[in-house]
Amino acid sequence: MPRSIFLDAPLDNVHNPWKNDARMGAYETLLRPLLFLLPPERAQAAAEWLFKRSWLWRAASPLLDYHDPRLHVRTAGLEFPSPVGLAAGYDKSCEFLDALLALGFGYVVGGTVVPQPRAGNPSPRLMRLPGQGSLINALGFPSKGMEAAQKNLELLRRKARLRSKPILVSVAGLSLEEFQACHATLEPLADATELNISSPNTQGLRVFQEPETFKRLLERINAQRTKPLFVKIPPYADEPGREKILGLVRIAREMGIDGITAANTRLVAAPQLAMGQGGLSGRMLLEDTVRIVAEVRGEAGAAMSVNACGGIFTSQDVLRALRAGANTVQLLTGLIYRGPGVARSINKGLVRMMERRGCASLAELAHRPVP
Ligand SMILES: Cc1cc2nc3c(=O)[nH]c(=O)nc-3n(C[C@H](O)[C@H](O)[C@H](O)COP(=O)(O)O)c2cc1C
Repeated sequence: MPRSIFLDAPLDNVHNPWKNDARMGAYETLLRPLLFLLPPERAQAAAEWLFKRSWLWRAASPLLDYHDPRLHVRTAGLEFPSPVGLAAGYDKSCEFLDALLALGFGYVVGGTVVPQPRAGNPSPRLMRLPGQGSLINALGFPSKGMEAAQKNLELLRRKARLRSKPILVSVAGLSLEEFQACHATLEPLADATELNISSPNTQGLRVFQEPETFKRLLERINAQRTKPLFVKIPPYADEPGREKILGLVRIAREMGIDGITAANTRLVAAPQLAMGQGGLSGRMLLEDTVRIVAEVRGEAGAAMSVNACGGIFTSQDVLRALRAGANTVQLLTGLIYRGPGVARSINKGLVRMMERRGCASLAELAHRPVP
């Protein structure tokens, strides 16, 4: 039974700290209030319409992208110009990843893509918790299917400008064969893939969190893959959950998987949604993310890559994630609350911190004692 968001919400963490990272920009003062007048999925459709105007984002790129060699991260055999990535779920069919890369993200994760087109769960299936900088979604993998994503990625690959930033594609399926098919179709068009075994809104996915099934999945993907592979795990809140999920990390390490993304949304009760429950994302996850990343790092050892995901809004959040042992971070809800300038703002904030503390790299910043 999912826990109630109202019972376990750590309210002392909910205090709009992202306002510290930068002044409120035009998005937060003007555009977000307008977008938030619309129901969440309508607002998302409006944002997607804008992101599909790629000429607009190409033109805006000098204002939004941000380069500094001190932000560079090398991990899992990939070169990231910034540690700030966009998490899976914003561009499910890889239709406007070029626009998203122009926003200053160091990498983007397209998907999650599943083999066949799917409508997802009934509506309402997405709601905002604006005071908490959070969302609850029960989308249930709406997808245009892997062939549509394949076509979109082929188009993207022709745009040479993108090659300096890695594109990851998140794949899933409801059987071993579906995972394999989706991975085999999309891996050639990506720099790396991320296996999503953790979306809380899709019943058939949970079986892949059972150790034996998980092992079989990794065996099959390992036998066909030629590029780095990440696994996205669910969050956990209690000791049995911790043992189970860290057990999966151990299996992933033993089987030579390159990295772990920690973590997906947290299942909560949500009577306002048609499913009665959904995955919580955003600020309310941050404390859990930092704790889980530290524990995953302990289990993964030094060689594996760890991407922190859940509640990242500011450069301070990124620093906490790096200190906990993350190599990179991913965010999604932060983009919705802080707008298209969020990655640039975080990147600039990280560079400011490095300058203030006399650090030449992010690794140095992460290991410098807190002043
Ligand atoms: C609307 C929405 C859709 C999402 N869809 C996916 C998805 O398709 N695949 C996936 O792995 N995670 C998905 N997620 C989870 C995010 O990638 C991320 O793990 C989670 O939201 C926590 O990060 P955040 O607090 O920065 O949003 C989705 C999240 C949201 C809010």
